[in-house]
Amino acid sequence: MPTTDTGEAKIHYQDVGAGKDVIVLLHAFPLHSGMWSRQLAAFSHRYRVIAPDYPGLGKSALRPEPSSMDILAGQVKALLDGLRIDRALVVGLSMGGYLAFELYRRRSALFRGLVLCDTHPGADTPEGAAGRETFARNAVEKGLHWVADEMTPKLLRPSPDPAVVREVRALIGQGTPAGVAAAQRGMARRIDSTPTLATITCPTLVVVGEEDSLTPPVEAEKMVGLVKGARLVRIPGAGHLPNMEAPAAFDKALLDFANGLSK
Ligand code: MLT
Repeated sequence: MPTTDTGEAKIHYQDVGAGKDVIVLLHAFPLHSGMWSRQLAAFSHRYRVIAPDYPGLGKSALRPEPSSMDILAGQVKALLDGLRIDRALVVGLSMGGYLAFELYRRRSALFRGLVLCDTHPGADTPEGAAGRETFARNAVEKGLHWVADEMTPKLLRPSPDPAVVREVRALIGQGTPAGVAAAQRGMARRIDSTPTLATITCPTLVVVGEEDSLTPPVEAEKMVGLVKGARLVRIPGAGHLPNMEAPAAFDKALLDFANGLSK
């Protein structure tokens, strides 16, 4: 498992496959790159797939400051620069989508295409940001078991597969309470990306789990309407993590899109 030192903190990332076309997978909160295990296997036959962990989640080093989208985009950019990757299909799921918006603002030339999964462009309301601060403090005080109890039911469909529940809880348990808090505080600081949607010129796919209660399909429909030429794929039988709950449909949607870019 490689790590890179961007000069400030070590980033752990997965790097599989040897295709000339690259897919970058940006994970959701409070998980890590391991949430993409099925996609790393399914896509690496044809593509090089890179999936980083955010600070204090998975195996990346914690940083002292909140994991703002600025910091994370700087880390991803440094990672890709270090690997000499200047074009990629970027896939962001939920928090990964927030990060993809920031990356697009900084480096739109990187994007061969963009896939926005179970995410939305808005910033937090003041109440939402205050809720994240409370969550951050609780995470540090009560630990990752509490984080898993709070988050797992929200991430999955109403009647989830017990094996996926166990997997999600394990992924959460591989982070650190401070990393969870840093991610919440970083998301609370993010700006409204709605104006960014109109500036996106690369091919864009929006994917949403039909049973996603955190970013419901209606949010995805709104987003599709704001990105020129974007298409929407709804994944049945999945909540907020369709890549884990309905991987066959998710992978097909993504591969059809990626293969279309490679023609
Ligand atoms: C995620 O899945 O990354 C989170 O639901 C994002 C958020 O808390 O806004």
